[in-house]
Amino acid sequence: MAEMARELGKSVLKGENITKVFGYGKTRTEAVKKVNFDFHEGEVISIVGESGSGKTTIARMILGLITITEGTLLFNGQPRDISSGKKRKEYWKNIQAVFQDPFSSFNMFNKIDDLLLDCINMTGGKHKSDKEKFDMMTEACSFVNLKYAELTNKYPFELSGGQMQRLMIARIFLLKPKILIADEPTSMVDACSRATILDMLMKLRDEIGMTIIFITHDIGLAYYVSDSVYIMEHGAFVEAGPAEDVIIHPKADYTKRLISDVPKIYGEWDLSTVG
Ligand SMILES: Nc1ncnc2c1ncn2[C@@H]1O[C@H](COP(=O)(O)OP(=O)(O)OP(=O)(O)O)[C@@H](O)[C@H]1O
Ligand SMILES: [Mg+2]
Repeated sequence: MAEMARELGKSVLKGENITKVFGYGKTRTEAVKKVNFDFHEGEVISIVGESGSGKTTIARMILGLITITEGTLLFNGQPRDISSGKKRKEYWKNIQAVFQDPFSSFNMFNKIDDLLLDCINMTGGKHKSDKEKFDMMTEACSFVNLKYAELTNKYPFELSGGQMQRLMIARIFLLKPKILIADEPTSMVDACSRATILDMLMKLRDEIGMTIIFITHDIGLAYYVSDSVYIMEHGAFVEAGPAEDVIIHPKADYTKRLISDVPKIYGEWDLSTVG
């Protein structure tokens, strides 16, 4: 948490002059402009900025869903290599995402059991017994306060938005990635579920030393959960550093403006008011 600066592990993901250009000529958009970052093991990072500032574009480059126009991305100190299907699969064992819209995260025509089984199989659990797999799925569901018995034989579209988001976290619980990107995962649930989901993610961080990258408009949330905050405006980072420094002692005018919208930030921060 922001007030307690923690010892950070080694660098897991480092971006050097990462740039993304979409389109050509008149439609050319420089969505991300020469950004630099260094994320560490177990670190909680927030990328904060207004709509269209390039946050999701950074996430998609990190995930390898779109190409990086220019710059270098280092994973565990080595240039990331996803040049073959096999390497890509290996990389995705280490990095996972929960997206703004849970509907886009699932194949709606796969039953929930298969969805969770896939996670177990993907992480080397193929040869476990049915009983072991059942126990793992039950544990994952109870971690997010879902009952496996109530989910079995259902499809994702039969769940509520909040249940679907918790199911996404159950997947993360099984996959245990090194890095998790959470692109506003809490936007469509009420404040209470939002706090619960945050707690679940932070608990997972503590248990498996996962690095979490939150992408949000909400500077209050960023202060509450992060070790480090990166402030993004028009495709560039205007300010970055420990949450305490950036949010309590902002230097950039843009950060000051974002903060002026959140008077509560200087008071006692209460989780029930986040959002
Ligand atoms: N596939 C694409 N083709 C062309 N332009 C794109 C594409 N994806 C994003 N952009 C543009 O890049 C810019 C950054 O978009 P991005 O989705 O990264 O913003 P964001 O910070 O995630 O916004 P929000 O907070 O609304 O989710 C925008 O101008 C957007 O229109
Ligand atoms: Mg976005």
